[in-house]
Amino acid sequence: MTELEKLKQELKKLNTGYAKIHEIPAEKRGEFGRELNAKKMAILEQIRKAEEAAFDVDVEAIDVTAPCGVNEPLPEFYPVSNGSRHPLMTELDRVAKIYQMMGFDVMESRQLDDEFHMFDSLNFAKEHPARDGYDTFRTEEGLIPPAHTSTMQHRVLKAYKNRLEQGKEIAVVVPGRVYRNEDVDATHEHTFYQCEGVYVSKDCKLSDMLGILREFFEKYYEQKLNIRTQPGYFPFTEPSLEFMIEKPKALGGKKGDFLEMLGCGMIHPNVLKMAGIDPEVYHGFAWGGGIDRLAMLRYGLKDVRYFESGNLNFLKEFK
Ligand code: DAH
Repeated sequence: MTELEKLKQELKKLNTGYAKIHEIPAEKRGEFGRELNAKKMAILEQIRKAEEAAFDVDVEAIDVTAPCGVNEPLPEFYPVSNGSRHPLMTELDRVAKIYQMMGFDVMESRQLDDEFHMFDSLNFAKEHPARDGYDTFRTEEGLIPPAHTSTMQHRVLKAYKNRLEQGKEIAVVVPGRVYRNEDVDATHEHTFYQCEGVYVSKDCKLSDMLGILREFFEKYYEQKLNIRTQPGYFPFTEPSLEFMIEKPKALGGKKGDFLEMLGCGMIHPNVLKMAGIDPEVYHGFAWGGGIDRLAMLRYGLKDVRYFESGNLNFLKEFK
């Protein structure tokens, strides 16, 4: 008999003692009860300790990752579930590949940035209300998880500036993860993905950008598309546009059903100047838009929250 079993038996015996209380003369019952209670408390405490000790041993003995008991032979077949790539990573690659085929370099964005790259380098004037348009998170040290991939524009311009001196152009895309302090709902997430594009040369024009974007979206959705632009406002572009595509029939769209896919425009001379590029000589355009949104339309998803949900049934659909 184990120590624990012995204690439990003792407790049982003790409990039968309570049944005898009516046989005790009334004046002695109080003392009898107190003694019995004290013994019971002591045994219960011993039991608790013994159980704790036994539990410790058991926990160490179990290998929860083992497919069967440690001393049993392996079963001939046991179900294995391999993980899979997150659908957004697949989309990110697909987006980057299309731009690569069009001659763009790919540079990775970062997960933590600073005030300069988030705002100053993008021509946001100090105290300008446009800064409030980006619901940024901040760390206690004042760093910023980027609210858009545009934080990389200044780095791209500086890193590739020598190409201009060689008489070539800058053509870079930057896919990356971005963060916003959003009220989360079916179309807004606090964490999502964007792809930024930056192009600079001596003689590029807004119409070149529209051609590049049309080409990208037609490759991505594998069909001809109608496009439209409308005026927008971003401190880092002048003029600024919102780029829209007509929702394809095959994806449930009706005529005139235009969706805003990204923000874009001619790079503001101040942004070029800050990176040491002469805006009198060179011109550029840039754009940036959400990848989650692209994928939602492609797969007919109604709720962006699936992507960050960790829901295995959802993820298995993309295996
Ligand atoms: N960064 C902007 C946003 O997330 C989108 C954008 C607009 C990017 C214009 C650009 C641009 O590069 O030129 O709202």
